Amino acid sequence: MAHNNIAIYPGSFDPITNGHVDLVKRTLRVFNRVMVVIATNPGKDGCLFTLEERLQMVREVFKGLKNRVQADSFEGLLVDYAERKGATVIIRGLRAVSDFEYEFQMAMMNRRLKPKLDTFFMMTGESEFYTSSRLVKEVVSLGGNVSGLVPANVLKNLKRKFNG
Ligand code: PNS
Repeated sequence: MAHNNIAIYPGSFDPITNGHVDLVKRTLRVFNRVMVVIATNPGKDGCLFTLEERLQMVREVFKGLKNRVQADSFEGLLVDYAERKGATVIIRGLRAVSDFEYEFQMAMMNRRLKPKLDTFFMMTGESEFYTSSRLVKEVVSLGGNVSGLVPANVLKNLKRKFNG
């Protein structure tokens, strides 16, 4: 039975990929509601897409699931955002072993900051195993084809960014 608690799925989503979409769908089998939350200050180099563009792409992808999947953004600490929203679970995807250390550090830091907030890790589907927003952007910027790795609306936006 689906759990009534809200799960939040944070990230940069620059842009959302089919790996992210797969993870949201898996999460919906366990939780009634998922909030896809985009960090405005992930402390990384500039994003390709503006926050508004990233939010809009996520909303378009899940427009058929509006009641169960919401998109939002946050500034500051993720744990503070989660508390404001009454969320008790953070969802993160794990692909290869190489994700583990970074994810482990974040999960432990978040737990230290808010002991009652748990991080649930989900394995992405095998077809999404090698997909990352970073690689998708790199491939498109060099003229490669990423159809099948990102939703159709994202593909269109990527092409527009790189081909003007
Ligand atoms: O998709 P990403 O870039 O791997 O997501 C990283 C993200 C946004 C989840 C992480 O950078 C984050 O939570 N940023 C918000 C600021 C924060 O709470 N930092 C402390 C994390 S331990």
